[in-house]
Amino acid sequence: MFFTAALFALPLFAQSVLAGECTRRYIIKDGDICDSISAAQNVSTYQLSAINVGVIDAECLNLVPSKTICLGYAGEDCSTTYTVVADDTCEQIASNHKLNSTILTLNNPQINAECTNIYIGEVLCVANTVQVPPAPAGGNLPGAVIPVTAKPAKPTSTPVQIQITTVESTTVVNVTPAPTPEVTKAPAAGEEDDDTEDDDDLPFCDEI
Ligand SMILES: *[C@@H]1O[C@H](CO)[C@@H](O)[C@H](O)[C@H]1NC(C)=O
Ligand SMILES: *[C@@H]1O[C@H](CO)[C@@H](O)[C@H](O)[C@H]1NC(C)=O
Repeated sequence: MFFTAALFALPLFAQSVLAGECTRRYIIKDGDICDSISAAQNVSTYQLSAINVGVIDAECLNLVPSKTICLGYAGEDCSTTYTVVADDTCEQIASNHKLNSTILTLNNPQINAECTNIYIGEVLCVANTVQVPPAPAGGNLPGAVIPVTAKPAKPTSTPVQIQITTVESTTVVNVTPAPTPEVTKAPAAGEEDDDTEDDDDLPFCDEI
């Protein structure tokens, strides 16, 4: 599990973007996950991910106990954090911390425009000025990968991934369902067009 290809595949330029002095460090313990470190150490999910590009993989599956990681760089370190709980919305979080949604989004750029992708246990920067490091150029947005075990803060408004398979290709799209997610229904067996079944209209018994 520790020898994940992502560790070696990450572009080297990501490191140079993050020039600066590490002013907070943490030694990984057995049983740590990224969001438990974030919550305990007051470092947002985004920031932990952004400053550890090339060290921690996008899914946070390569934490090595006893290894030291950086939590914050001088001048780009938000330590005013809040951990998302069930039923949170961005509006509530912003208003509870007396900040506007623009600042909340700038400090937590992994939050989508509709704020439907926050999840329970995610750690957000709730400072009222922009304090987090900029996203490294290229690659995925840090903090954007939601842990597979995570529960969305608002279950009914979470984007649903639908896989569309055609003969030529497989496409994955994100859609946000209405509260009643009809869109996830698979077609019932036998509903497919099939020209061998063109005898539906024939009165079955007339031929006897
Ligand atoms: C995290 O922030 C809380 C609330 O401000 C504080 O009580 C706690 O000591 C901080 N923890 C660390 C590790 O900085
Ligand atoms: C949030 O606050 C910033 C700085 O005060 C301001 O520039 C911005 O327009 C505000 N955004 C909203 C949506 O009120």
